[in-house]
Formats: sequence, C-alpha cells, structure tokens
Amino acid sequence: MNQQQLKEAVAAAAIERVKPAILDGEIIGIGTGSTANCFIDQLAALKDDIKATVASSEASAQRLRSHGIEVIELNSCGQIAVYVDGADESNQRLELIKGGGAALTREKIVAAASKQFICIADESKLVDQLGAFPLPIEVIPMARSYVARELLKMGGNPVYREGVVTDNGNVIIDLYDFMIATPQKTEETINGITGVVTNGLFALRPADVLLLGTADGVKTLQRED
Ligand code: 5RP
Repeated sequence: MNQQQLKEAVAAAAIERVKPAILDGEIIGIGTGSTANCFIDQLAALKDDIKATVASSEASAQRLRSHGIEVIELNSCGQIAVYVDGADESNQRLELIKGGGAALTREKIVAAASKQFICIADESKLVDQLGAFPLPIEVIPMARSYVARELLKMGGNPVYREGVVTDNGNVIIDLYDFMIATPQKTEETINGITGVVTNGLFALRPADVLLLGTADGVKTLQRED
C-alpha cells in the first residue's frame, strides 16, 4: 500500500468510529491536512445524517461546505462528541506534534473542546521520541524575533516559516534540532514565552485513540491513563 492508500484506510476506520455519534445527532470536530481531507471526503457519503461539524481551519471548513456538510462556529455549540485529525508525529503515549499545516491553535482549541480525540495517521508518523519533525509554534507577529531568541536559549534552532499567515493572522516559527524528552513540560514552557499563542505539542491534551495505517492493516492504539 502506498501512503495515500494508508491515509484512505485510516480515514475509513475513523468513519466507522464516528458513525454512531453522527447518527445520534452529535456535532463532529474536523481537523486539517491531507489525512483529514481523506476523512472529509469520505464523510460526504453521510452528509444527510450529519447535524453539523466544527472545523479547525478555513481550508477544512471550505472543503466540508463544498460537500454540502454544515459547518458551525465552536461558540455556537457545547462539547463536541468526537474530534478527528491527523498529526505530524505521535509517540506511544499518543502525545503529538501537530501544525505542519499551520492550523495548530484552532486544532488545539477544537481538541480541548472535544470529549474524544481520534488521531489518524500512517505508520511513518509513529516515533519513539517526538522532535525529529520541527515543532511548529504560532507567534504574534511583533514578537517573532524575541520568541526566536528565547527558543535559541532553549537549545533549538528556530526558523521563521516564510510567507505563512495563520487563520488567526499570526506567523509560524518551526523549531528544528529539538528532541523532546518531556512533552508536557516542554509544551508548558514554550507556551509560557510571551508572544507565543501556542505550540504544536499536544501532550497536555493528547489523542485518546490513534488509528495507524500500516501495511498489515489499520492498527488501533488506545491511550492509557
Ligand atoms: C495541520 C496538522 C496536520 O494534522 C498535520 O500536519 C498532518 O498533516 P497530513 O495529514 O497532511 O500529514 O497538524 O496543522
């Protein structure tokens, strides 16, 4: 199976998991990226049963609407039953790095507002230690240089993502050469730098379930509390 087929397979597995919530009239949270796009496209088959969705980016909202699926604001609903999204990396504890598509802040908000977070990814995303993928950090534009200097002091190599403006009007710094031994602590420390909106570590609110596309089929990893 190629990578696209693995993404399609995990998206199909996620559809089976969210179907009962959809049929119960629950609102579904939708992530961002190429794997989430596979999920959105497969969700179209259920559009007549879907009450509404909340999207973690303008791009996903647009794609959902193009399929005739209702998208509402997070402020218009209570707790979301289930959130489905991809990741750039996951460890065995289902702590993630996200934000390769620059949607990390809205993704983190929708994940926080959701009862269950199902992560969908191909097997290349599962790692022993987070950090080979550069950690995305959303930053208020005027704080960019200051935040970069603080990140240098932490031992990483911050690189401004040229030409990218987030849906919230901010910029992205990618932190290279920064292996992460204690994801929760690192998430808190970087979020404590003034001018940082949030960083792409999802360790304080990790995924609950990871559906991993492998050559032997979709594997399910469950978070242990
Ligand atoms: C976007 C994200 C994506 O979930 C992440 O980048 C994975 O994307 P893909 O499914 O295309 O590999 O965090 O901000």
